[in-house]
Amino acid sequence: MNYNKKTVKDIDVKGKKVLCRCDFNVPQDKKTGAITDDKRIVAALPTIKYLLEQGAAVIACSHLGKPEPSFEKWVKKQTEKGKDPAELTEEKWKKTMAALTLAPVAKRLSELLGQEVIMASDVVGPDAQAKAAALQPGQIMLLENTRFEKGETKNDPAFAKTMADMADVYVSDAFGAVHRAHASTAGVAEYLPAVSGFLIQKELEIIGGALANPKRPLVAILGGSKVSSKIGVINNLLEIADTIIIGGGMAYTFSAAKGGKVGDSLLEADWMDYANEMVEKAAAKGVKLLLPIDTVVADAFDANANHKVVPTGEIPDGWQGLDIGPDTVKLYCDAVKDAGTVIWNGPMGVFEFPAFAKGTEAVAEALSKTKAITIIGGGDSAAAVQQLGYADKMTHISTGGGASLEFMEGKELPGVACLLDA
Ligand code: 3PG
Repeated sequence: MNYNKKTVKDIDVKGKKVLCRCDFNVPQDKKTGAITDDKRIVAALPTIKYLLEQGAAVIACSHLGKPEPSFEKWVKKQTEKGKDPAELTEEKWKKTMAALTLAPVAKRLSELLGQEVIMASDVVGPDAQAKAAALQPGQIMLLENTRFEKGETKNDPAFAKTMADMADVYVSDAFGAVHRAHASTAGVAEYLPAVSGFLIQKELEIIGGALANPKRPLVAILGGSKVSSKIGVINNLLEIADTIIIGGGMAYTFSAAKGGKVGDSLLEADWMDYANEMVEKAAAKGVKLLLPIDTVVADAFDANANHKVVPTGEIPDGWQGLDIGPDTVKLYCDAVKDAGTVIWNGPMGVFEFPAFAKGTEAVAEALSKTKAITIIGGGDSAAAVQQLGYADKMTHISTGGGASLEFMEGKELPGVACLLDA
């Protein structure tokens, strides 16, 4: 796939209405609705400011959460989750939808930009249409949550066209959503000249560069709980990386596959054969595949559980692995010392519990000290690096969780593929 795409700098936006897709899918406090982390809004600012400075009228849009725009489907989904159908009223459904309004994002965006952000009460309805028509150069408005419309996730062409008809140009800066072929992330590009914003450009350059032409040795650190969710990444990186380091819950499936005892640790028995295959494939390709040699085990999945260190493969029944052990930490930190590039996706242990955060913290610290280009996939690893205070020491922390994962899997990203080639 070609990642060399036209950007906002390659197109004249003066006096134009620009539909700018951002990823404003920000975490919110469940009770108050307050935004608990505005990083994604901050990350969209360079493109939005540039467009406004160039004299464009900006129609920003985004999804937030996973609202269900059909009442019937909402009832079905909730019933499947075990909710009592008698309690699933239309009023309740409307409340869950209303909670996913982008109004708090408009407020925060306005504070950050230092100018008014006009909020539309719908996506392509009369309010959005009237406000978009009246929008002047240098002004910005925000459409309501794109997923309030059924056509969004279905990538319905009629809905995409109605959205596109409000603007002259499409700019996508929603890196976190480029793995979705939705109307606002891909469909609209059928009807408008489509270019990338600065955030997507940066993510493509850094992650794409590391995958296509890495400064070697390239070390990939893969963690997280499940082998099944990382198959694509392991497969793709086996073709590219010099060293692959495995940590987190998925390491126990590799250990069990080798005949190790994993006690009560997370285990995906169905994926043991696959784990063995990966070990063989790595050996055949000359890729160094490092697995934990010792493990911090706990007698419960609890922050205050009793814990001790045991050799990997010798975890007693009643105990579960929650972090890599000190010898593994040393092995892994040595492996990244002389790396040219390090890609990290997935924590080494249950870093949310301080007693089991040491492996993840040690890796983050080792990355902060290396001269290598350090790239952190979004989601849990980004959260870990931030929580542990190493964020400003990394070359790049991706704003996309699922998107950066699919990028590292070598998959085509529909929200990038739809943009004009440079
Ligand atoms: C994310 O949070 O990873 C992106 O905003 C995509 O959200 P989605 O998984 O709901 O499509």
